[in-house]
Amino acid sequence: MVNPQNPRTPRAKTPGIVVIAAALALVLGMNFAGLNAADEPPIVEHMTVVNDGYKVLRRQARTKAFDEESLKLVIEMQKAALAAMHEKAPMLAKVPAAEQAQFTIGFKKSMRDLVTATLDLEIALVEGNKDQVVELIDKLASIKKEGHDKFVEE
Ligand code: HEM
Repeated sequence: MVNPQNPRTPRAKTPGIVVIAAALALVLGMNFAGLNAADEPPIVEHMTVVNDGYKVLRRQARTKAFDEESLKLVIEMQKAALAAMHEKAPMLAKVPAAEQAQFTIGFKKSMRDLVTATLDLEIALVEGNKDQVVELIDKLASIKKEGHDKFVEE
């Protein structure tokens, strides 16, 4: 059969049984390692949204090439950060009961800093204040470090 993407190269035929076996091994392996995506704590999904936006913004900051996409990402990051603030850090379960209230207050304050930075980012973007946008993107790195140092297990 001719591969439509490259008509000159015939596509290698993979026996269906090999594909099924590989998929099965992957699923079984993930379950064994406790990595089933459905089992992930909700905060992980929100953090992934924050992280995806952060990566794009960091790249854009090198040339200060901000655009409509930057604003869209920042707004998604805001919502995700706020949602994360109302979730629990998985590490909480390992904290002694007597220290959990204090841990949760610290966690919420740290997440509040992230929410605030994304709100400030929105305003700076709308105002076209590129220097401030870059400053705030740099600030996200320290917010992440502080949050992860205290609330994410090694
Ligand atoms: C720009 C800021 C931040 C970025 C880019 C970021 C990024 C990430 C990423 C990539 C993950 C891993 C998701 C996965 O497991 O696939 C994660 C998890 C997590 N982050 Fe953040 N984060 C940020 C800020 C914060 C802050 C401020 C806090 C604390 C208030 C925090 C607390 C957590 C927690 C609790 C998890 C769950 C991981 C675990 O405990 O197993 N993060 N974050």
